[in-house]
Amino acid sequence: MAVNGLRAVNSKAIVIMVVVLVMTQRSVQLRSNHPLHGVVDRVNENGGPYIGLVMAYPTEEAALQSSSLFLPSSDVPSVDLSGRRFNIGTIKGVAVIYVMTGEQTLNAGIVVQILLDVFNIEGIVHYGTAGSTNDSLSLGDVSVPNYVAFTGSWKWKEFQSMKGELPELQFGSYNFPSRGDNLLAKVEFTPQQLYSTGQPMQEVFWLPIEPNWFSVAMLLSDINLQRCINNTYCLPETPKVVYGLKGSTADIFLDNAAYREFLFKEFNISTVDEESSAVIMASLTNGVPCIVFRGISDLAGAGKRVKAMSLSSLAAVNALSVAVEFISLIGKVNPIQFH
Ligand SMILES: *[C@@H]1O[C@H](CO)[C@@H](O)[C@H](O)[C@H]1NC(C)=O
Ligand SMILES: *[C@@H]1O[C@H](CO)[C@@H](O)[C@H](O)[C@H]1NC(C)=O
Ligand SMILES: *[C@@H]1O[C@H](CO)[C@@H](O)[C@H](O)[C@H]1NC(C)=O
Repeated sequence: MAVNGLRAVNSKAIVIMVVVLVMTQRSVQLRSNHPLHGVVDRVNENGGPYIGLVMAYPTEEAALQSSSLFLPSSDVPSVDLSGRRFNIGTIKGVAVIYVMTGEQTLNAGIVVQILLDVFNIEGIVHYGTAGSTNDSLSLGDVSVPNYVAFTGSWKWKEFQSMKGELPELQFGSYNFPSRGDNLLAKVEFTPQQLYSTGQPMQEVFWLPIEPNWFSVAMLLSDINLQRCINNTYCLPETPKVVYGLKGSTADIFLDNAAYREFLFKEFNISTVDEESSAVIMASLTNGVPCIVFRGISDLAGAGKRVKAMSLSSLAAVNALSVAVEFISLIGKVNPIQFH
């Protein structure tokens, strides 16, 4: 980390400290007759506050496990709740609880809520893999979005209905070999209902990443990312960290060139995944900062030649590398967090 980089962070530390002071007022514990009540109290009293580190599926968790960067607590190394294992320890000296949520939005949302309800968590770091819908992103690159939309919420409209106010996907435009009418008509993309502490319900399409955390993450652009899968196969270019693109989430694995292009052209969306928006929404609901790191593992249906090759493992390792440096940095800029 460059010296002037750290200086830039210091000026932001005050803002972050204010955010943290507000957050630490939340009460954290399991109900008093829960069998793990005492264990959870010990985790919160002895080690926290923690960064919550969240990933969705085994390849992403394996990236962390094989890195040996996570050092489990010798007191309580893990707590099992609701079928998930909450792992307690440190990464580069920063107190972390990591958990694999399971795939798609409901799993991700449930687990972030449990993490925030039960443990003393001051922010959520989320990493994983994604498909690219932007031709300028390459396999292995890590996207740090500043906005993520949930694109799986639609109003499915009547055949030959009027144009709505929100963006629409008209199926007839994709008839093959030539466009025309289609009885499936069209879908209109609808925003999500965001409930959060002390605020009326808001309808939001673009969920924002916490700006202070995003600024801290911007300091990590010259991080070394992995380029080779093995001794014989390397990507044509060294992967890079890319900031401020728009991400998207749906309970859909996207492997279709036409819809990929629609998302990019209609919304300027650069990545597709199945959890990020849920992790951000759960964080926003609880007033806790959140940041997302997604490594490009596939092209979401584009590019016939590379299509067959998924680089999930390399993409997960690269996303983790950025997430780990972020955790280390956020631990340094905020001295009152980790005493
Ligand atoms: C290296 O990875 C490539 C791409 O997945 C694969 O085709 C090749 O067999 C691998 N080589 C070795 C030595 O494992
Ligand atoms: C997409 O990006 C282009 C160029 O940055 C901009 O002109 C356009 O308004 C954006 N479209 C949407 C839907 O955000
Ligand atoms: C696509 O990715 C490139 C490279 O990161 C970026 O410069 C460009 O703004 C992105 N396009 C859109 C519409 O976001």
